[in-house]
Amino acid sequence: MAKELIVTEGLTKNYGKTPGIIDLDLEVRQGEIFGFLGPNGAGKTTTIRTLLDFIRPTKGKITIFGQDSHKESVAIKSRIGYLPGELELYKKLRGSELLHYFSNLRGRVDWKYVEKLAAVLEFDMSKPVKTLSSGNKHKLGLIQAFMHKPDLLILDEPTIGLDPLMQQEFYRLLLEAKAEGQTVFISSHILPEVERVCDRVGFIRHGQLVDVFEISELKKRALRQIEIDFAEPVSKDDFANLSGIKDISVAHNILSCTVSGSLDAVIKAAAHFTVNNIISREPNLEDIFLSYYGDDNDDAS
Ligand SMILES: Nc1ncnc2c1ncn2[C@@H]1O[C@H](COP(=O)(O)OP(=O)(O)O)[C@@H](O)[C@H]1O
Ligand SMILES: [Mg+2]
Repeated sequence: MAKELIVTEGLTKNYGKTPGIIDLDLEVRQGEIFGFLGPNGAGKTTTIRTLLDFIRPTKGKITIFGQDSHKESVAIKSRIGYLPGELELYKKLRGSELLHYFSNLRGRVDWKYVEKLAAVLEFDMSKPVKTLSSGNKHKLGLIQAFMHKPDLLILDEPTIGLDPLMQQEFYRLLLEAKAEGQTVFISSHILPEVERVCDRVGFIRHGQLVDVFEISELKKRALRQIEIDFAEPVSKDDFANLSGIKDISVAHNILSCTVSGSLDAVIKAAAHFTVNNIISREPNLEDIFLSYYGDDNDDAS
């Protein structure tokens, strides 16, 4: 069993009468990238802020690194890199000055790594913070979160404001962090953005954790769309009895179907004929996402 690095039990936060999060039982394992997914207003930021002890839960318990998140808050935070959803920065400083300030605060920062992060994210450290665009402020936020190679990265919607190219760089940084044994907790309201890097995803809706999945399991179970182009006529009946196969149709020697699970049976059946081409479409996890949130609009609360 993998070791749990974050554990919450019955975590609940009410804002007066408005529920923020309700009875959240969450486990994040050491060394994984955990995606925390849900539309705006679902409770992602509330969860993250309670994890970090910035706000106190109404009820429930949080353990991080095996320690009580409130009593050991200082020790825990020294091992965490955090990107807040809304970043407040000291506007009078230059990027480099602010990063030096964070670096001194944290004590064990390799400045070469800071320079590497700035280079990878194409961030100009010499500019005063007040002149930075929101995208560049976001990059500064990412650099300060990663700079001390924390054991745990907690990133609240980190891809917002990054262009597609920078998103790729960011994912590479995440995978590097994982390769170094760091654990990542990342919130997002867009599944396709994070599914490629996450080991597991948890779905939160209206303050409640509705499901947690291994991405690899999800992909194994999800439906794949297959098209096989044959050099000769085939009949639906040649494929109809295969396990996991559905929605079969044949037109112009092209067989179309959906398959759940392994493709082995279909491939072996197809091999009785001459095959020109085969197209397999990746299972669409977004359909699963939509099955949770399809009727929520973005401002759901
Ligand atoms: N400071 C606050 N005061 C009152 N209600 C809040 C506050 N912060 C969040 N909420 C409410 O809690 C719910 C969850 O919000 P939030 O955690 O920010 O969601 P997310 O980060 O998933 O968008 C929403 O209904 C939101 O309006
Ligand atoms: Mg939020």
